Amino acid sequence: MKIKTSRFDRTAFRPEDEPKVSGPDVVFLGRSNVGKSSLINRLLGVKNLARTSARPGRTQSVNFYRVNESWFFVDLPGYGWARVPESVRRSWKPMVEGYLDRRRPRIALALLIVDSRHHATELDLTMKQWLEAKEIGYVVAATKVDKLSASARARVDRSLLEEFGASTVSERPILVSARTDRGLGGLWRNVDTALDAWWDRSGTRHGAG
Ligand code: GTP
Ligand code: MG
Repeated sequence: MKIKTSRFDRTAFRPEDEPKVSGPDVVFLGRSNVGKSSLINRLLGVKNLARTSARPGRTQSVNFYRVNESWFFVDLPGYGWARVPESVRRSWKPMVEGYLDRRRPRIALALLIVDSRHHATELDLTMKQWLEAKEIGYVVAATKVDKLSASARARVDRSLLEEFGASTVSERPILVSARTDRGLGGLWRNVDTALDAWWDRSGTRHGAG
């Protein structure tokens, strides 16, 4: 994918706020603080496009980033962190589940992001089951692998496969880093393939690329 343009489009707290223009979504899901927003910035090569923070709960609404004026990266608030304020935790489910249900036909691919240093949580596995139940194509990406030694990386590679198995678009979880760019080429290939498939299905032309 050649990125010609990328920009913040909008943040949505309510369904009415979601963009109405055509084109598919590639959505980032995962626990708070795993590095979803950082990955969006790094994939697009723009610092601070999506806001990040060392504290969990930075992203608190559904954020749309328009890429090449033809499709969206969608950054969701993370789940499963006790220190996130109660009000945020309560609004998470309707916000995220509502988004997934409403935009279901537009979702070309979900990236289920986990932290490579931690085992899968029950919520991660619930998310995976949700995506499968809703028949949303997804791939698991384990990030922050720059923090692992080579031997730890090999170990994580095996345990991720045991915990998550294959996804709809990939034989195994992908190891990535938003610091070193490791694995981002592989992640882009999954995104490109999923977008092409979505455009084929929808019968629309491949927009601006
Ligand atoms: P929420 O918005 O709370 O759901 O978090 P998030 O998943 O969007 O995480 P965010 O991108 O804000 O990153 C959380 C912290 O992890 C920040 O301090 C980032 O700098 C750090 N981080 C993200 N990706 C990486 C990575 O690949 N390697 C390392 N070492 N740190 C990372
Ligand atoms: Mg975030």
